[in-house]
Amino acid sequence: MGVRAAWTHEGPSPRASRRTGVRTLSLEVVLKRHRLCVCAAAAGFLLLLAACALYLPDQAAPQQQQPPPPDVTLLIWTHPFGEYRELPDCLQLYQIRGCKITDDPWAYPQADAVIIHHREIASGDAYLPPEPRPDAQKWIWMNYESPTHTAELWLLEGVFNLTLTYRTDSDIFLPYGYLVPRARAADGAPDGGQLSLSRRPRKRFVAWVISNWSANHARVGFYRQLREFIRVDVYGRAGRPLQGGGDSVVRMLRRYMFYLALENSQHTDYITEKLWNAVLAGAVPVVLGPSRQNYERFLPAEAFIHVEDFPTVKQLARYLLALRDDPARLRRRHLDWRRSYSLRQPRFWMEHYCTACRAVRRARGRTQTVTDLRRWFHS
Ligand SMILES: *[C@@H]1O[C@H](CO)[C@@H](O)[C@H](O)[C@H]1NC(C)=O
Ligand SMILES: *[C@@H]1O[C@H](CO)[C@@H](O)[C@H](O)[C@H]1NC(C)=O
Repeated sequence: MGVRAAWTHEGPSPRASRRTGVRTLSLEVVLKRHRLCVCAAAAGFLLLLAACALYLPDQAAPQQQQPPPPDVTLLIWTHPFGEYRELPDCLQLYQIRGCKITDDPWAYPQADAVIIHHREIASGDAYLPPEPRPDAQKWIWMNYESPTHTAELWLLEGVFNLTLTYRTDSDIFLPYGYLVPRARAADGAPDGGQLSLSRRPRKRFVAWVISNWSANHARVGFYRQLREFIRVDVYGRAGRPLQGGGDSVVRMLRRYMFYLALENSQHTDYITEKLWNAVLAGAVPVVLGPSRQNYERFLPAEAFIHVEDFPTVKQLARYLLALRDDPARLRRRHLDWRRSYSLRQPRFWMEHYCTACRAVRRARGRTQTVTDLRRWFHS
């Protein structure tokens, strides 16, 4: 798909940049630098919006003169993580035409494409479909875990034809969330959220939700340092319980000024619902994940605070305290951007299947193989 061509890697990997050592810039310099960066970043960010636009509903497509091409049959080989989910009606939900989505393995010989979710294959809970594969059939590798939690990739070299992941340079790209400029968001698309901007200052300061506490995660090290300087309310299996319901995190976060959106591992484009939940709730995310530059592909530079913005955790803590005591500044600096955007969080896995189906329709007749899956995914 075009998206792969549209994206090139920028700069060193997050790992490499972390290795470049301690930052010595003062707080003032860092903040000034960020103002300067906003323009450059906005360009990259708009590029992402442009890429996303490819995946927004087809409504505006010109009328076709020829008869429409036949439907595409997309086979879901396993339900991800063994959890059965209802299959989507792509036309009704996303205005994507010509898709037959099925999880019936007997449809295999007729399927134009098969979506194969990584985990079940890697764990041995499922086998790859039988070879030889039917003529022109495409196998799609789908994975939303980070490389750290993606095992046995070496087994899968040269097996797949397309990738479907959160990475911007996937053949079929669908992130955990993305922003849509307000003007365009009036299309009534599902899973959309207007970003509100309330005048009332929030009472609570910093929250963190953590279910998998692992002492060797960078995020736990960061939390341990931060809590020496400020109070952090910890929720989840390792802290206070969250009051029931699917949106419990978002509801809790509506009362907080800041949220620690700390990814379990640090990799290119690996930015999960942790960030988007905070954005939806209007809590300013303090992020630990890939580089600031990488986050800026997905949202405006001022929409988040990166743990590497500050030479020390103490200085970061001081900055958060200063913002807490000056709500007008907090709003001006980190929340005003919200007026201009809506947030979309694709629903797992309905939108993924429909987006894949559209990509398969568009790539009809093309042949390609994913070689170097492991090297690419870890890059
Ligand atoms: C929790 O973290 C450990 C260490 O990284 C990892 O091996 C494990 O898969 C994680 N568990 C879950 C449920 O994510
Ligand atoms: C898909 O990949 C396989 C394995 O490399 C290859 O044999 C086949 O020709 C490819 N098919 C398409 C439609 O790209």
